[in-house]
Amino acid sequence: MLCIGLEGTAHTLGVGVIDSDGKIYANIRSEYVPKSGGIHPREAAQHHGVVLATKLQEALEKSSLTFKDIELIAFSRGPGLGPCLRVTATAARALALLLDIPLVGVNHCVAHIELGRLVTGFKDPLVVYVSGGNTIVSAYEAGKYRVFGETLDIALGNMLDTFARAAGMPHPGGPKIEKLAKNDSAEFISLPYSVKGMDLSFSGLLTAAVNTLKKGVQLEDLCFSLQEVSFAMLTEVTERALAHTEKPEVLLTGGVAANKRLQEMLQIISHEHDALFGAVSPDLAGDNGVMIGWTGLIQFIQGDILDIESSQILPKWGLSAFEFTRT
Ligand code: ATP
Ligand code: FE2
Repeated sequence: MLCIGLEGTAHTLGVGVIDSDGKIYANIRSEYVPKSGGIHPREAAQHHGVVLATKLQEALEKSSLTFKDIELIAFSRGPGLGPCLRVTATAARALALLLDIPLVGVNHCVAHIELGRLVTGFKDPLVVYVSGGNTIVSAYEAGKYRVFGETLDIALGNMLDTFARAAGMPHPGGPKIEKLAKNDSAEFISLPYSVKGMDLSFSGLLTAAVNTLKKGVQLEDLCFSLQEVSFAMLTEVTERALAHTEKPEVLLTGGVAANKRLQEMLQIISHEHDALFGAVSPDLAGDNGVMIGWTGLIQFIQGDILDIESSQILPKWGLSAFEFTRT
């Protein structure tokens, strides 16, 4: 069965084409980059609306398919920014009606995890999902992805991006910080380390890093230290969740999964607990339509299909609010 997945929760408009055997035909993405400052929901939504038709066409061409071949439409139903979600949801409904095929609404966070399971082959991982909007340590128990630890304020990717912006680096800041931090002679600058039980807090760390920047320290040293402290915090929580759940695998996904130093730290603790470690590759770890298509197919097989009338978006749809039987 062939499915088109539409992603549009935040910056990225994604169109993915995938079949029920997990074969990926196309992963087309277009990112809205704010002219200055953070994401503006209305501008991002406008971007998605402008590029959507072209990206759909591109995805079909890349797949050597036509609309007639598509048997299912899946869209990211939440969580995300209302104006952005509305654009992709409206397009998905129109396609479902026009092509007379079923419509499935997908939880964006579950989709990151399920695609991660597909590409790593992991059956039952402890999941570390870190992006611009989310920082979650989770595992599947009794019909849901349970949250073991999460950020109490801003997400790890957002913290890195905001610091980078203060240091004059354009969005996205994460990869630029990683590059600067890769200096063998970098010196460690002490910064606040904030783990509260199983949860994390990055806002104090961000403020301290921005204040330290103003003191005129070496940017490389500060980038190195910011990564060491924030990644160690995340690694501590992950290790505790791993010791508690005794999961056989650790899966790293979300945009920040691209970071080699974070991968290295999580790999070390995974191996210490006899767990396999896998990071999803950047083209499939960041927001994309393939993950929506793949999770849509799993939901369809379970009979989780939406009527157009009750297919409203769910901007605050949390990870553990979604009951879902894994295959
Ligand atoms: P979500 O809606 O799931 O929160 P998102 O809109 O933030 O996702 P993603 O593509 O999943 O989108 O993640 C983008 C984030 O990943 C940005 O904060 C970016 O700085 C960060 N990132 C990308 N590459 C790296 C890297 N090499 N090191 C650190 N952070 C990175
Ligand atoms: Fe995402």
